[in-house]
Amino acid sequence: MPSISDNFLRGFRGAFLDFINDPFYGSELANVRYVPDGLLVCSEGMIQAFGPYSELQEKYTKIPITTCPGQLIMPGFIDTHIHYAQLEMIASYGEQLLEWLNKYTFPVEGKFKDQTYASKMASLFLDELLKNGTTTALVFATVHPESVEAFFAEASQRNLRMIAGKVLMDRNAPEFLRDTPDRAYEESKHLIQKWHKKGRLLYAVTPRFAITSTPEQLQLAGKLLQEFPDVYLHTHLSENVKEVAVVAELFPESTGYLDVYDRAGLVGERSVFAHGVQLTEQEFQRLSEAKSAISFCPTSNLFLGSGLFKLHRAKSAACPVKVGLGTDVGAGTSFSLLQTANEAYKVAQLQGEALSAFKALYLATLGGARALTIDDKIGNFDVGKEADFVVLDLQATPLMAVRNQGMPAPSLEALAEQLFGLIMLGDDRAIQATYVAGELAYQRPSSSLS
Ligand code: GUN
Ligand code: ZN
Repeated sequence: MPSISDNFLRGFRGAFLDFINDPFYGSELANVRYVPDGLLVCSEGMIQAFGPYSELQEKYTKIPITTCPGQLIMPGFIDTHIHYAQLEMIASYGEQLLEWLNKYTFPVEGKFKDQTYASKMASLFLDELLKNGTTTALVFATVHPESVEAFFAEASQRNLRMIAGKVLMDRNAPEFLRDTPDRAYEESKHLIQKWHKKGRLLYAVTPRFAITSTPEQLQLAGKLLQEFPDVYLHTHLSENVKEVAVVAELFPESTGYLDVYDRAGLVGERSVFAHGVQLTEQEFQRLSEAKSAISFCPTSNLFLGSGLFKLHRAKSAACPVKVGLGTDVGAGTSFSLLQTANEAYKVAQLQGEALSAFKALYLATLGGARALTIDDKIGNFDVGKEADFVVLDLQATPLMAVRNQGMPAPSLEALAEQLFGLIMLGDDRAIQATYVAGELAYQRPSSSLS
């Protein structure tokens, strides 16, 4: 076989893990793809070949190959719900959702009218994502178009696949954070035309939640979705008991929280709803029918005392709802999707369920990509997808090194054990390197003490 040499080709050799389908359904292990000695070949940011090294080596003898001994390479993590403007007020004490928003969140979001400040925070935020192995996120900016401009400009510079949008908010918020229905429509439209599908960027129409939008504003959000059918809808839904009661008061004509969004035409295949902790069975059924997604944000739901998301209900075989993992920083307490998976496990345990390591890591990769209907582009190592990936060190700390012995794992069963240890004990220290479109975007400093 002739050997391929091409200036743009680059290989990565090591142990690889990804998912070819959803391990929540059918045989879990049949949907796991583990290649203990594999080769990933990238060309101009895309995956050109992937498989066992022994099968591909002959074809690629002339390309530069980076080896990752003793490590595990996975698709880049996908965070399906996060607020970049809340970076600086992460870990704010003592309140539940509505009080927390008024006391901590709104004052901080006011700062993002200043585009220079917003750029600085966007840069810090993206550094933090990459440090945690996250290569794609669905991101809330603030009500200010400047905050979206700043975010997309920073993400574009790094060639990241990111989805974001301007927050719509025309009532029940401080004056300095309020827009109007018309202004929200015009500003969003302008931002969509400027940024949606520019490079790897995508736009999400982003009403904050039902409490902070008038029915008129939600209707205009629906109009935007009709005019731009391939943009996303990103909002919060049924997170907290008090919130649900306020929504019922504000929208007496609606049959429930989800119905408020439904009446405005906001419940569709590209709609992503954060939380869904308080959803009724009927609402789960409607989300399933509409093929909408829920972002499960366990660290946030525990931190704000919101409650336990019924993951097992969402993933039921008879009436499934798409789910991804969200950190929801700054109500979430970690940028790490490993730590988020750790808390997801405990939320499941409190409901008598066990979330396996493979299922949790599926949610952080291909499951997230499916929740964002972007699985044709990212989420696993299929040839033709974008080459965003993370190099994991399962022995990153002395404790992890004794917990996770014998790399690469000789079997799927052994791997499952190690990955569970990774999820329980790992965080940004386990991220050895993060690659974006085949290029090194973050490398863990070698001198750092664990
Ligand atoms: N609901 C409305 N806004 C927010 C927010 O900023 N964070 C969370 N967790 N829930 C919300
Ligand atoms: Zn949120």
